[in-house]
Amino acid sequence: MQKFINKLQSSLNDGSFVKLTLSKPRAKSQEPRANLNNVYVKPIILKNEKMFSFTYRYERRDETKNYDAEQSFEIITNFINEVFLNASLFTLTEDVTLLISKKGKATVMTKAVKEQRDQNVQHDKVKNRLINTDNPWWFKLGLTTREGKVTADMQHKFKQICKYVEIVDGVMKNVKFDGKVRIADMGAGKGYLTFALYEYLTQRCKYDIEMEGVEIRPDLVVKINEIIKESNLKDFRFVESSIDSYQISAVNSQSIAHGSRLMAHGSLDVLIALHACNTATDDAIIKGIESGAKLIICAPCCHKQIRQEMEKSKIVDPITRYGIFLERQAVMITDAIRALIMEYFGYKTQVMEFIEMEHTPKNILLVGRKSDAPVDKEAILKQIEDLKKQYRIEKHYLEKVLFFKPLN
Ligand SMILES: C[S@@+](CC[C@H](N)C(=O)[O-])C[C@H]1O[C@@H](n2cnc3c(N)ncnc32)[C@H](O)[C@@H]1O
Repeated sequence: MQKFINKLQSSLNDGSFVKLTLSKPRAKSQEPRANLNNVYVKPIILKNEKMFSFTYRYERRDETKNYDAEQSFEIITNFINEVFLNASLFTLTEDVTLLISKKGKATVMTKAVKEQRDQNVQHDKVKNRLINTDNPWWFKLGLTTREGKVTADMQHKFKQICKYVEIVDGVMKNVKFDGKVRIADMGAGKGYLTFALYEYLTQRCKYDIEMEGVEIRPDLVVKINEIIKESNLKDFRFVESSIDSYQISAVNSQSIAHGSRLMAHGSLDVLIALHACNTATDDAIIKGIESGAKLIICAPCCHKQIRQEMEKSKIVDPITRYGIFLERQAVMITDAIRALIMEYFGYKTQVMEFIEMEHTPKNILLVGRKSDAPVDKEAILKQIEDLKKQYRIEKHYLEKVLFFKPLN
């Protein structure tokens, strides 16, 4: 223990301190809100003075306080002696881990740092970012360095993450939710956007949410669930399933403790599907409609089904005779019919730009908000039929939902 404390003291005083994480509290309080799960410490410049910023992570909130080196040393040693069993210290030259057993036996592990390390010291005028890249999951997901700096090749993904969170936040503010908000992210992939939304809604907006990422690739599901577990993120999980066979679940705190799922049909508030391939987006929209989701947000990916139908019909008009225009027209028809079908089921729809075209042509976000306003279903069906007739489309995959009876 003394070895760790000595290293901590010298790093705080000689300027080599990069960051410190305290984890694994010795005891839980009866009052969950009082539970301090982690403390994160990093250097910061305040009014030209070097200070240390402490982020106290409680069950439902974060608190930040700044101290000088001497105060920081005292607070951290108190925490190690009385509150936390694990501490990880990162300095410019080494990583030092302290593990204290329940019986009080301390083990210290030291690893030399090979790469050139950046202290990433923030100044008081930091950018007010929607996502806190110091959160440990961003490093585990591969978005940042160990010090919380977005890596060069993930800059574009980070931009997309921030834009996405900004849009969803704007959309969610206009929807009234009661109690816990249940969210399913279909075709969640490596989880960047799923974690971003979870972090933003729980840490910044203080929503009480329950989130499931649905992904068909078992390797990804296992990996992401490990990160969720290590990060102690509650009411959050990835489920291995294809979108169309996904069964909407409700996870209550008791069932999480026992590692099982409770089925509760029709209990989804927000359905998300970002870049789910071809008709997987339609399967996701069907789940949203069936479960009476208040919000459906999708960023369609490839649009093979309609394009193939258009190619098959060999219709040649001044637009579709050009291959590129045929491709774009297929995209617009696919998504226009999706929007019409969502409207048929009472969703007010909006189409917005996700990120700039320079990054990807798949940049459309289709948003449906459930409304009580009356709908002229006959008129909508006619518009769908007219579009299909014009481009000799036999059927749109999503039309099959028209024969279902949604729950509400
Ligand atoms: C292009 S990635 C998108 C990942 C993430 N949503 C994003 O936008 O960054 C699509 C993901 O959906 C998964 N996927 C494709 N079809 C699926 C299906 N029918 N059911 C479940 N997952 C599916 C793929 O394995 C892949 O990980």
